[in-house]
Amino acid sequence: MNRNLFFVLLNAALLGAGLGAAGLALARPSLPMHKSIELPTSSRVFPGSGPGAAAANSFCLMCHSYGMVETQPKLNAAAWMVEVEKMRHAFKAPIPAAEVPVIAHYIARLKGAD
Ligand code: HEC
Repeated sequence: MNRNLFFVLLNAALLGAGLGAAGLALARPSLPMHKSIELPTSSRVFPGSGPGAAAANSFCLMCHSYGMVETQPKLNAAAWMVEVEKMRHAFKAPIPAAEVPVIAHYIARLKGAD
């Protein structure tokens, strides 16, 4: 290839790349490097000292507040079994299978529906 032609092509390529990068920089709005958000916190726990309260505190509060469960409709233990199984399967909550009936009966009783 002719030496001059080579440099003409090289310059054109570099110019193209430069313009492209400048275009990208102009097109993108400048974003802040980080944002902080504040999540609501709660120190309320499932009441009681039995195995149901212990399990609910261990396996529900990692994603929910106590208040979120407390304000649910009065469901019986069978319905809570379905609900807790849904947490395990749909939302991958790491709740041991053996704890499901313990939690279901505890929450139903807590809400006066067992
Ligand atoms: C791994 C996180 C996780 C854990 C642990 C978890 N859940 Fe959930 N739960 C979710 C998600 C996600 C939703 C759906 C929220 C939505 O739709 O806005 C949900 C929804 C719910 C709902 C609302 C009704 C519904 O079916 O959507 C109830 C009640 C509930 N969870 C109870 C529980 C109880 C009781 C436990 C403990 C045994 C528990 N959850 C543990 C993630 C979790």
